Amino acid sequence: MEADQLREAFINFFKSKDHAQIGSASLIPENDPTVLFTTAGMHPLVPYLLGEKHPMGKRLVDFQKCIRTGDIDEVGDYSHLTFFEMLGNWSLGDYFKKESIAFSHEFLTKHLGFTNDQLAVTAFAGEEGIPRDEETAEIWKSHGMKDEQIFFYGREDNWWGPAGVTGPCGPDTEIFYDNGQPKCGPDCGPSCHCGKYTEIWNNVFMQYFKNDKGEFEPLAQKNVDTGMGLERICCITEGKKSVYDTSLFTGIIAELEEISGRKYEGDAIRDFRIIADHLRAATFILGDGVVPAKVGQGYILRRLIRRAARNMSKLGYDEVFMDRVCAKIVDQYGDAYPELIREKDNICRNIRAEEEKFHSTLVKGLRRFNEMVANAGDAKVMDGELVFRLYDTFGFPVELTAELAAEKGLTVDMEDFQNRFRTHQEKSRAGSEQTFKGGLADNSEETTKLHTATHLLNAALRELIDPNIRQKGSNITADRLRFDFNFDRKLTPEELKSIEAFVNDAIQKDIPVVCEEMPVEDAKASGAIGVFDNKYGAIVKVYKIGDVSAELCGGPHVSHTGEIQGFKIKKEESSAAGVRRIKAVVGKF
Ligand code: SER
Repeated sequence: MEADQLREAFINFFKSKDHAQIGSASLIPENDPTVLFTTAGMHPLVPYLLGEKHPMGKRLVDFQKCIRTGDIDEVGDYSHLTFFEMLGNWSLGDYFKKESIAFSHEFLTKHLGFTNDQLAVTAFAGEEGIPRDEETAEIWKSHGMKDEQIFFYGREDNWWGPAGVTGPCGPDTEIFYDNGQPKCGPDCGPSCHCGKYTEIWNNVFMQYFKNDKGEFEPLAQKNVDTGMGLERICCITEGKKSVYDTSLFTGIIAELEEISGRKYEGDAIRDFRIIADHLRAATFILGDGVVPAKVGQGYILRRLIRRAARNMSKLGYDEVFMDRVCAKIVDQYGDAYPELIREKDNICRNIRAEEEKFHSTLVKGLRRFNEMVANAGDAKVMDGELVFRLYDTFGFPVELTAELAAEKGLTVDMEDFQNRFRTHQEKSRAGSEQTFKGGLADNSEETTKLHTATHLLNAALRELIDPNIRQKGSNITADRLRFDFNFDRKLTPEELKSIEAFVNDAIQKDIPVVCEEMPVEDAKASGAIGVFDNKYGAIVKVYKIGDVSAELCGGPHVSHTGEIQGFKIKKEESSAAGVRRIKAVVGKF
C-alpha cells in the first residue's frame, strides 16, 4: 500500500469507529511558547488533553505534518528524517486501553494485512507507585498475541510525557513489526537495534498527571494518544529497505537525478537523501509562512536549505535548482496539504532567493579559506578551530575543506574538528530537547491573560493601522506575549500609543469573552479571523470579545477582559522582511 492510500485507509478506518477527522495543524505551533515546530500529532491537541472541550468531539483522527531536528546529522541513513507525517487517533476522555488496542490490532491485521506473527508489542514494566501494566498485556493476549511476543520495558522505552515538567503522561504500548530474521542474541527484543524489530505505532495511555512535586496523580480525564509514522509504515507495506525508497520519495529523487545528471547509487545515495529530506522539510516550512532568518524557525529553514545546497554541490551541481524540486514536492503533496498549493509561488520564490544568497556565502567562505591558508605560514596542518569556523559560519562541509586544503599541500586536523563538532552537536541537541520539553502550553492564569490580550492586540492593529494585517506568529511565555504580523514599516510612537489605548479601553470595559462553536463556513461568513486552513466541514470554536474581536481559536481565554488588568507594549521591531513584531506585557501598571 502506498502513502496516499495509507493516509486514506487510516482516516476511513477511524471514521468508521466514530472518530471525527481534524485537519493537519500548522508546523508552527499556535500560542505555544517554547517550541519551534509541531513535533507530534498530539502537540496541537494539548489543551484538549488537559480538559478543554474539543468542538469536534471526543474521538479524533488526523494526519499531522511534523518536524524534529534533533537528529539532523543522522539524516542520510536509511531511516532518519527531519520532516515526517504522523497518523494519529485520540480519545479525549472517551475509550481507553481495551478499545485502543482493539482498533490498532484490527487496522493492522484486517486493513494492512499483517499477521500476528509479524508483530511484537511492549508494555510498561512498572516502578514504585505505578503498577506493571498487566492489563495491556492481557488485552494483547485476547487478540492472540503470545507471551513471547509481549515485552515489558521501563520508563526509558514505555512511558510518554509529560512534554513539560508537569502535565499529562502515562505508560504506552508500542507495536513493532518483526521482519522474521533470527534474534541476534538471548536479550534481543523490540528495544534492540539489530534491525529485526521496527516500531510502527505508539499508543499512549494518558492516565496520570505529573505534579510539581514529581508525584503521579490519576488524571480525571483518561486519554489515548496514538502516533504512527507514515514513512515507516509505508516502508514496510511497500516492502522497501529504506524510507527513501518509498513512494513518498521516489518522485523527488528522480527529479534530482534528472537535474544533477547523477544516479541515486553508491556514494551518491547519502547526498540524494539529504537533499530530498531537507527540501521536503523546507517546502512545508515555507508553506506555513516562515522565511529564512537568523533565528527561530527561519534559522532551521536556512540550515536545511544550505545543507541541501552543499550536498547538491557535492554531486557536482552548482546551479540554482531548488525551486524546481519544491514545485515537484508541492504537486505530489498538494492533495493532502492544500496550503502548499496556495503558497506555491511564495515557496518557490523564497527558496530561490535563499539559494542565490548562499551561493555568495560560498564565495565569501572560499575567500576566507584562502586567507587562512596564507596565514598558516609553514604549518602543514590546518587546525580544527579554523575548519570548524568554515563549517559553522560559511557552511563548509569538512570534506570540502579537506579537499581544498589537499590542493594546497595541507591536511586537516580531523580529530580536533570532530571534537568541536561533537561538542556543538551535543549543545544543539540539548537545546532542541530543551525546547521540546518546555513545549506544553501551560494554561496558567498569566498565559491565559496574555492569550486574550493577543486577540485584542490583533483587533487593534486591524482597526487602527491596516485591515489587511494578519497574524504571522504568536508566542506566549509566562512573562510576555509576542505577536508577529505582516506590515512593511516601523510603527510610529503615536501609533503604538493608540494601540495600547485601544486594548486598555477594551480591558476597562470588562467585556465578556464568549466562546461559540459553529461550522467553519459560518465562522468565515461571520467575519471571524484566524487560520481556516484544512478545517473544511469542521466545527470550530470562535472566541468573541463584544464587537471588538472574533477569532478562531482553541482557547483558553479569560472570561472577562477586566481580568487582564492592563496592557503595555514593550517593543516593536522587525521580525523578517515584511513582518513586524510586538512584545507586550499585561498586569497592573
Ligand atoms: N505522542 C506519542 C508520540 O509522539 C504518540 O502519538 O509517539
